[in-house]
Amino acid sequence: MGVNTVFVLGAGFMGNGIAQVAGFSGYRVIMCDVGEDRLEAGMEAIRSSLGRLLAKGKITERQVEETLAGIRPTTNMQDAREADLVVEAVPEDPELKKRVFAELDRICPPHAILASNTSAIPISSLASVTTRPEKVVGIHFFGPVPLLRLVEVISGVQTSEETMDIADEWARSLGKETVLVRKDHAGFVANRVNIPTNIEAVRMIEEGLATPEEIDRATGGYEAGVGPMQIIDNAGLDVGYRAALAIYEDTHDAKFLPPPLLRRMVSAGLLGRKSGRGFYDYSTGKRKSCFPALHAEESEEERAFRMQVVLNRLLIPAVLEAVAVVEAGVATAEDVDRASRLGFNLPFGQLEMADGLGLDAVQETALSLYRETGDRKFFPPHLLRRMVAAGFLGRKSGRGFHTYDD
Ligand SMILES: NC(=O)c1ccc[n+]([C@@H]2O[C@H](COP(=O)([O-])OP(=O)(O)OC[C@H]3O[C@@H](n4cnc5c(N)ncnc54)[C@H](O)[C@@H]3O)[C@@H](O)[C@H]2O)c1
Repeated sequence: MGVNTVFVLGAGFMGNGIAQVAGFSGYRVIMCDVGEDRLEAGMEAIRSSLGRLLAKGKITERQVEETLAGIRPTTNMQDAREADLVVEAVPEDPELKKRVFAELDRICPPHAILASNTSAIPISSLASVTTRPEKVVGIHFFGPVPLLRLVEVISGVQTSEETMDIADEWARSLGKETVLVRKDHAGFVANRVNIPTNIEAVRMIEEGLATPEEIDRATGGYEAGVGPMQIIDNAGLDVGYRAALAIYEDTHDAKFLPPPLLRRMVSAGLLGRKSGRGFYDYSTGKRKSCFPALHAEESEEERAFRMQVVLNRLLIPAVLEAVAVVEAGVATAEDVDRASRLGFNLPFGQLEMADGLGLDAVQETALSLYRETGDRKFFPPHLLRRMVAAGFLGRKSGRGFHTYDD
């Protein structure tokens, strides 16, 4: 059965973005939230996003009208009985998601596919509360949905091939590029790889080693707005916190445990761009630094040394996790890099970067961090050590995670 009617549950940052791109691509969309005010805010976000695209000449007046006409807002979850596909985008709370999945399963027609936009909750755990686990799938968009091209399509342990195919085809029909994740690996690919670096960044702020701006500048992503603290602020600190916690709860691996500073900021309501303040202040409409400058007395040499430590602690966790994702057979090196590039607008993926730096150099840096800290998260995974031992050193040897002709 084809997908004609899409029911989007949640009209927040992700839900309204998903409704917009589905409406734009000609699907009949029903967008549901718990209150009229939330729905109206969701519709307003869609109107202003379409308005910006129109002003830039990317879409026509007619497309704006047709997209808006194709989206029906509702507060009545029973309207899901019309759905061929549901995309759930309620907050990242496992109990809430399980509750809505059980309810959607009761309301939706038997052919309907139930998809979750969860950032990190295992799909199988959501499927387990339904009577149709073969029709439950992850369709994970990245925000802002109209701008970022990646969609991860994730299989739970019982998801059928047919469901994966329909989900993949539907996501691609929206103009997205998909990465298929056939193992139900918490955090999937892009978040799984990038969260260890985000957590390490928050730890360095907590330790007083660097400010958010220094961290974003160290990665070279500051000007383009793709530094880790900028990405966390855009996605929402609550979203990042819950995604990291979900991976921690699934793996019990301490590198995913959200640090106290992140927890304190979330409980203080400092949620990033959407609340006006997170690691930066947005109250004037522009991003401004709001953490006090550090190490005012340090020399140029001391500063250079500090920034090198910061950079190493930012690069290594994501590279090692990217290697671990390939080693676990969750995704290929190509897909890991594509997921980071398209999901977070990064100029290159972590494995391309590691190949460029030299895998032997990456291993050495990781080992020196491991020796200095005694922290197991810096110990190079088996696959990296074996590749270095085999002489696959990256670009300079013609082969690393990718192959090079030059
Ligand atoms: N923010 C991001 O960058 C990002 C990226 C990828 C995935 N996600 C995931 O998408 C999901 C939604 O995140 P968000 O950033 O849009 O959150 P959000 O807080 O902006 O929106 C959530 C919406 O769900 C609504 N809601 C709550 N309970 C509901 C219910 N029972 N029925 C219907 N609506 C309900 C809320 O009123 C709110 O409007 C989360 O699982 C998150 O992890 C977020």
